[in-house]
Amino acid sequence: MSKKIAILGSTGSIGKNALRVIEALGEEYELVAVTAHTSVELLAEQVRKYRPKYAGIEKPAMAARLAELISGCDTQIISGPDTMVQTATLDEADIVLTAVVGAAGLPAAIAAAKAGKTLAIANKEPLVIAGELLMKTARENNARIVPVDSEHSAIFQCLQAGCRGEVRRLILTSSGGPFRTATKQQIRNATIKDALKHPTWDMGPKITIDSATMMNKALEVIEAKWLFDVPVDMIEVLIHPESVVHSLVEFVDGSVVAQLGTPDMCLPIQYAFTYPAREKGVAAHLDLSKLGSLNFHSPDFDTFRSLKLCYDVAKEGGLAPVVFNAANEQAVAGFLDGSIEFYRIIELVEQALDMHKTADSLSLDELIETDRWARNFVSSCINNKR
Ligand SMILES: NC(=O)c1ccc[n+]([C@@H]2O[C@H](COP(=O)([O-])OP(=O)(O)OC[C@H]3O[C@@H](n4cnc5c(N)ncnc54)[C@H](OP(=O)(O)O)[C@@H]3O)[C@@H](O)[C@H]2O)c1
Repeated sequence: MSKKIAILGSTGSIGKNALRVIEALGEEYELVAVTAHTSVELLAEQVRKYRPKYAGIEKPAMAARLAELISGCDTQIISGPDTMVQTATLDEADIVLTAVVGAAGLPAAIAAAKAGKTLAIANKEPLVIAGELLMKTARENNARIVPVDSEHSAIFQCLQAGCRGEVRRLILTSSGGPFRTATKQQIRNATIKDALKHPTWDMGPKITIDSATMMNKALEVIEAKWLFDVPVDMIEVLIHPESVVHSLVEFVDGSVVAQLGTPDMCLPIQYAFTYPAREKGVAAHLDLSKLGSLNFHSPDFDTFRSLKLCYDVAKEGGLAPVVFNAANEQAVAGFLDGSIEFYRIIELVEQALDMHKTADSLSLDELIETDRWARNFVSSCINNKR
């Protein structure tokens, strides 16, 4: 029987790679749904090429444009504010790949978990802000969560070498981003073009800026805490410029198990679809003899303050991770539209964390309200140049 896949965010970097993976995997993997946010032309192209049963786009005007562009196709259009939730809970879908960017993917991730789907989770922000709720919902509804982030996919694979009680440390690798060797002064004056020049990975703009601030790794530390149910102090970050060792697990006997591969997201995306099996795929095979050497060093917590902050935020818990993530999303948007300098991103995150309120209960409504508060706080700081 074929595995049926719905992709939330098929027009993005992960989404496009996922379509290549599904095409290469052959008829045992069937694409049933795709969604987009603004790229209606590309979505139409994908529908005409892959003929999924459903295509989703929230805005009615875009849905109308999509209908024109795909006239003659049997694909049904899903539209309106619940587009992603409806797509994530389609009866026809076994696997839901969450490849949208930011906290916008949270309701759909929760809905997919409630519906007992297999969640191939690339969209890390929902895990950061609502990891406890998402993992609990998945457990209660027998939904399987398989990580797509390359580091978490690596750890997921390495953990298969031992029992949970035998794990000593999870070691997340990081390329170090475009500013790995830059001075604080160079980073302070970084342009949008500099910050978007990632040395090893070709990704969407938000995650590429997060790699430049190392916020991406900071979010990944919190993501790993929830995915693998370990205290945050058991998670370490190791800079590895070549991005070949995707992450490692150290066991209590001193053995370290690593997963290696070329830096190509098709590999972890495919593993999330085929798990627990492995299939031939589109990712290039690794030739270590051509690489010659691999390098590793500790991160610079002083230059990249996000990396230190994520441990405090994870330990504080409650609403702190929501503020950490939302303030960052808003500040990155401000940097990308030219409203603030690069170094202000982390400053605004720190300011929002200093100001936020705490809460006893962590309902989805409370999380969404706090997310909104942090975005408004950062926007007003940007507008008032605070
Ligand atoms: N790219 C990578 O290699 C990589 C690696 C590991 C993890 N991730 C994670 O995967 C997620 C996606 O990253 P990406 O680099 O693929 O991002 P991206 O290229 O910016 O693509 C984002 C996708 O989400 C859609 N989208 C954006 N805002 C939306 C909203 N408010 N509602 C519904 N859909 C929305 C976009 O639609 P339109 O294009 O139509 O606007 C697009 O399809 C992120 O959470 C990222 O951290 C990415």
